Amino acid sequence: MLDIKKIIGGSIVIEGIDAADIAESLTFSDEPGHGDLALPCFKFAKALRKPPVQIAQALIDSGVLSGSPYVEKTEAAGGYFNIYLKRARFGAEALSGFLSGGAAAPFPKNGRRICIDYSSINIAKPFHIGHLLTTVIGGSLYRIFTHLGYDVVGINHLGDWGTQFGKLISAYKRWGDDADIAARGVRGLLDLYVRFHKEAKNDPALDDEGRAYFKRIEDGDAEALKLFGYFREITLKDVGRVYDMLDVTFDSYNGESFYNDRLPAVVKSLEEKGLLTDSEGAKVVDLSDYGMPPCLILKSDGASLYATRDLATAVYRKETYDFCENLYVVAYQQNLHFKQVFQVLTLMGYDWAGACKHIPFGMVSLEETGALSTRSGNVVFLEDVLNTAVAKADAIIKVKNPTLRDRAETAKRVGVGAVIFTALANNRIKDMVFSYDRCLSFEGETGPYLQYTYARCRSVIEKAGAVKGGVAAAVFSDDDAFFLLKRLNDFSRIVAEAGAKYEPSILSRYLIDVAKSFNRFYLSNRVLTADADVSFTRLALVGYTAEILKKGLQLILLKAPEKM
Ligand code: ARG
Repeated sequence: MLDIKKIIGGSIVIEGIDAADIAESLTFSDEPGHGDLALPCFKFAKALRKPPVQIAQALIDSGVLSGSPYVEKTEAAGGYFNIYLKRARFGAEALSGFLSGGAAAPFPKNGRRICIDYSSINIAKPFHIGHLLTTVIGGSLYRIFTHLGYDVVGINHLGDWGTQFGKLISAYKRWGDDADIAARGVRGLLDLYVRFHKEAKNDPALDDEGRAYFKRIEDGDAEALKLFGYFREITLKDVGRVYDMLDVTFDSYNGESFYNDRLPAVVKSLEEKGLLTDSEGAKVVDLSDYGMPPCLILKSDGASLYATRDLATAVYRKETYDFCENLYVVAYQQNLHFKQVFQVLTLMGYDWAGACKHIPFGMVSLEETGALSTRSGNVVFLEDVLNTAVAKADAIIKVKNPTLRDRAETAKRVGVGAVIFTALANNRIKDMVFSYDRCLSFEGETGPYLQYTYARCRSVIEKAGAVKGGVAAAVFSDDDAFFLLKRLNDFSRIVAEAGAKYEPSILSRYLIDVAKSFNRFYLSNRVLTADADVSFTRLALVGYTAEILKKGLQLILLKAPEKM
């Protein structure tokens, strides 16, 4: 990548402003009259105590960039310092980055490790559409950070501890049907739960029985543990199908129960550090100095809590992985929980507490059925959503391209990709309303649109065959060709930004931008012409687009079909 922002930014000197700030502030523009790159001088007005217009004019007067081989001309306009690139020079260099191979290559390994806690489903509970965001945001961040040179550890922190498992054993022993569970997986287990709660209303003895079974799990009773292991196995088999479809993997499935024997050490350490106080028999860490309710560590009966386990988990991850960052991709409903846990880690004196970060995201609802909740009983299983999307994609492709071979595989890529893209298209903190029709549209800002554009590139390349020639700089005097190249050249910077902000949507939106730029270019430029160099150069732009789309799609978990 030709890091044009860095090169240009590095040659602009403004006394009193940090050089890095200048490069950071440069923005790209396609609008006529706004330069190819612009420096908004508003940002520096306060520090320099000068109006932006004057700052921009001073840059012109100083003749800065007049010696740059990349710059055609500069102008001051309304507080902006606009920079026009020498298209021929920029074009030839940026394109040679692609022609020499590896334009989308990963960054060199940096020897640093990042833990990502994502998906983190609950045993014997449905993998519902609410888990879609954590699974795909985490899965995408996993790939983005790997691309950026980090060593990434993906962790599915299973929710596999709590009194509900005692209830489930009780229900299973009373009414369990192995054949049904084998056939229906978690749905079968869920029915047992529902029945348990219904019957417990009239028969309080059931709750006691559930508690007693949970006690047996805690005490390590062989039968209870065996059943518990069975529920876990059933659940992992069910969710495994979804992970396969999404192509998301984990390096560890250490969940809540894994930390059982590490809890006493956490409690002891809190005690020794004088952080535990009694509150109506329970043990808590007082956080009133930080404007937060107390963090519950032990209930009055001595039972541990979610936070206790997360404290042990963080310590374990630091010891085991020596992370430089420890991320938790969890819904914003748990904001307080993580703030409390991180604050307690700080109070415990762990200097790495600041490396623990909550990456929150919003809620999902389905346009076709309304709000989603486990409690209301109208649970929407993610697997059903994916299968529905695949079936709908199949129907669309059947009409659009009736002779397509491998339709089933393509429909899978398009259907699943459509769902994933919708989940990654907007800022993660925004709540989203999911609609099959919108996400499966081949036009508009969708996964299928990106995949279709990729397939289009592939078919142009295939039809063209080998074209011999050199770079024709004249190709870039066309705005559409130049804008496309400017974008493609920006790929590595965009991936780095998506990582730094933990925001795959930055990459999603960039890819849409690339696809739109490509389609505009393709509409106004004939690729194969009588001039070999022009054909070669335009075809290289198509190849470059395909390479960036394919890699970019992979980083947001989408697969790029060669034909569609
Ligand atoms: N299982 C939890 C849930 O579904 C999420 C766990 C997130 N990870 C953690 N370390 N607390 O809400």
